[in-house]
Amino acid sequence: CKVAVLISGSGSNLQALLDASANAGADFSVCAVISNKPEAFGLKRATEAGVPTSVVDHRNFSGRENFDQALIAEIDSHQPDLVVLAGFMRILTPEFVRHYSGRLLNIHPSLLPKYQGLHTHQRALEAGDSEHGVTVHFVTEELDGGPPIVQAAVPIKEGDTPESLAKRVQVQEHVIYPMAVTWFAQGRLKMLTDRSQLDGELL
Ligand code: GRF
Repeated sequence: CKVAVLISGSGSNLQALLDASANAGADFSVCAVISNKPEAFGLKRATEAGVPTSVVDHRNFSGRENFDQALIAEIDSHQPDLVVLAGFMRILTPEFVRHYSGRLLNIHPSLLPKYQGLHTHQRALEAGDSEHGVTVHFVTEELDGGPPIVQAAVPIKEGDTPESLAKRVQVQEHVIYPMAVTWFAQGRLKMLTDRSQLDGELL
């Protein structure tokens, strides 16, 4: 299974995927890493792993539609089976999401449906929650609203800051993202739009 990974920053989740893909018997390989930011550290991680990189800089496009069309062209030139968002900080158009429907994953640092959007760690602390976590989900047109695949929970501890909590959550991110991608690569994971699609599939 060929996986394209989209990033905007550090790429620690990308690193977890690269490491998993290098394991003997891995069911997927990372065929391309694409960033909207030329300075994203994740690009170095990809190069280090021998994976081709490219930059589609959103600042060079007049609107979201034009940017997303260029992004689609770049992604599709690598013919991936799956597209993985790993800290990709752009909101995608419905056209983009539809183009990759059922083969587009995201990781969101909260126990969805709690805390869609930004500043999730701070919001969990402010709410006085006793636990927090991370969700891998299929991407649909609703931001952070697609069908969840796997979650990991962590305790919130006395004295936690958004940073200390983020660190604890990230350890789990790096476990569950490669896990979900592996399930997809093994054909054990499908996004259904309708229960009738279950007939004869995955049963
Ligand atoms: C992660 O916390 C992920 O949950 C969120 O963005 C962050 C990306 O971190 N969507 P990294 O670039 O993978 O280190």
